Amino acid sequence: MGGARLGVLGGSGLYAMDGLEEVREIQVDTPYGPPSDTLRLGRIDDLEVVFLARHGRHHSYTPTEVPYRANLWALRSLGVRWVLSVSAVGSLQEQYRPLDMMVPDQFIDRTHQRPLSFFGGGVVAHVTAADPYCPVLSRLLADVGDSLMPPGRQLHRGGTYLCMEGPAFSTRAESELYRSWGCGVIGMTNHTEARLAREAEMAYATLAMVTDYDCWHQEHASVTVELVIDNLRANAALAQQIVRQAAARVGELRPASSAHHALRHALMTPAEHVP
Ligand code: ADE
Repeated sequence: MGGARLGVLGGSGLYAMDGLEEVREIQVDTPYGPPSDTLRLGRIDDLEVVFLARHGRHHSYTPTEVPYRANLWALRSLGVRWVLSVSAVGSLQEQYRPLDMMVPDQFIDRTHQRPLSFFGGGVVAHVTAADPYCPVLSRLLADVGDSLMPPGRQLHRGGTYLCMEGPAFSTRAESELYRSWGCGVIGMTNHTEARLAREAEMAYATLAMVTDYDCWHQEHASVTVELVIDNLRANAALAQQIVRQAAARVGELRPASSAHHALRHALMTPAEHVP
């Protein structure tokens, strides 16, 4: 994947990226309309990096409203083949403590109000999703994160991300249900991006920043935006550092991700019948 660019999708609390050099703002239009914001194209060492604030730089899209297809399409159209995303999450298990981080390896989808695919309209494809996050990129992200975590805080390798629709947080009954399913963290955006990235043959990994214990924990207050923002602020500099150092090492990744060939055995519609 020589020359492939890295995309960085910043979530709540990460509306810009430190350390990008020679930054240019680019407006991209897509068949799905404009992305959440202008894309910022810059450089980290020899790697070209494209940053996009998922909710817009002033946080104006709800998780349902984020134009996910436009965002992923825009990245791919700029030559991105690796995507690092940063997301705030609630914890569904005691061991994932606020200010810890997780690099998830699975998700469960509980969304119901957003498009999940680039396919349809005459072209049918079913990509493999057994391992929905790229293991190669996730390992790099976790290795870098591990080496930078301060004492007393942990980076967890692997775990299941429950993606809910939002925008309201979960009820306690929902939170307990997801816990009983063995889910580790909960958020509102990640799986949608992971699915679309796979269809667009981009390797995708997530740095999930734990901000709260959702609403199930007897000894911790239920999640509020204030709690999420306070803990995101406390973790923002570290997240920036992890992303920057991981980005600086993306060029080392060998072999390339199998996500880069996700469509090879996925198309059902014969080429001569693709409109
Ligand atoms: N993002 C941060 N904390 C969350 C929670 N508890 N539920 C859903 N999304 C979140």
